[in-house]
Amino acid sequence: MSPGNLLREKVAIVTGAGSGIGAASALRFADEGARVLVADIRGHKAEQTAADIADRGGVSSPFTVNVADAESVAGMVAACIDEFGRLDVLFNNAGTLRPGTAVELSLADWDLVMAVNVRSVFLGAKYAVPHMQAQGGGSIISTASISGLHGDGGAVVYAASKAAVINLTRALSTDHAPAGIRVNAICPGTIETPPVQRMMADPDVLERNLRAHTLGRLGRPEEIANVAVWLASDEASFVTGEAIVVDGGLRAQSPLGRIADPRPSHLRE
Ligand SMILES: NC(=O)c1ccc[n+]([C@@H]2O[C@H](COP(=O)([O-])OP(=O)(O)OC[C@H]3O[C@@H](n4cnc5c(N)ncnc54)[C@H](O)[C@@H]3O)[C@@H](O)[C@H]2O)c1
Repeated sequence: MSPGNLLREKVAIVTGAGSGIGAASALRFADEGARVLVADIRGHKAEQTAADIADRGGVSSPFTVNVADAESVAGMVAACIDEFGRLDVLFNNAGTLRPGTAVELSLADWDLVMAVNVRSVFLGAKYAVPHMQAQGGGSIISTASISGLHGDGGAVVYAASKAAVINLTRALSTDHAPAGIRVNAICPGTIETPPVQRMMADPDVLERNLRAHTLGRLGRPEEIANVAVWLASDEASFVTGEAIVVDGGLRAQSPLGRIADPRPSHLRE
């Protein structure tokens, strides 16, 4: 995709920007003219994304953050204001998953996933909103998941955390709409990022995932970045409180897949 101007003169923070969806989004935000604080708990990965942005002629600054920690998130927002003088877009994208049922998961697993996936969105709003309010508006985006819309098995705290992100998004959007701040979430289907690529090494898991998405393939990180950049931009100026599903058709079909073959039987192979 050729560079555009969708985010010209905007300043954005992207968390989890050292890998996968966050890295693709930070690159795309910069391609669209934003100056980007590239934030990740793995500082060397944030530095790599920032170097990739510089190679493409964009402007960014790497930052090491733990999105679950209040002091760290406050420091991230302060660093963005120090470096770029404003904050227009906060993309809460960092997240984590611990597989397991309620019986299998430890309390520490529960607390970690809820802190990284949900507390982070609360903290991001806590520290970003005052700056956005003073500027007259802004856009907050969070990466939820289709796992926040279904009760699929094997990752009970992940599912609970992403459902919480979706309703937190709605509540934040209501509170901060009068300040001109839009708050939205994105619910991706299965996207080919490093942790997912590791899961898909099992042929059965891959086959199940390919079948679940009616487009017959997994999504690419850039396909989530495309939606994030739109939500961040003024093109989405009347969109708030939404959880936008980007899932290659996964939610469109029931587990039956097909009810009947539309062709008469004598024409079937
Ligand atoms: N890949 C998918 O299929 C998929 C589907 C639905 C939702 N998601 C969500 O998308 C987001 C990005 O996932 P991804 O697949 O790109 O994974 P990824 O592992 O490629 O990227 C996640 C990044 O977040 C960083 N991170 C983890 N904990 C952090 C913390 N406490 N503070 C700051 N940074 C932290 C990691 O270092 C990593 O660089 C997550 O919220 C994930 O739950 C992914």
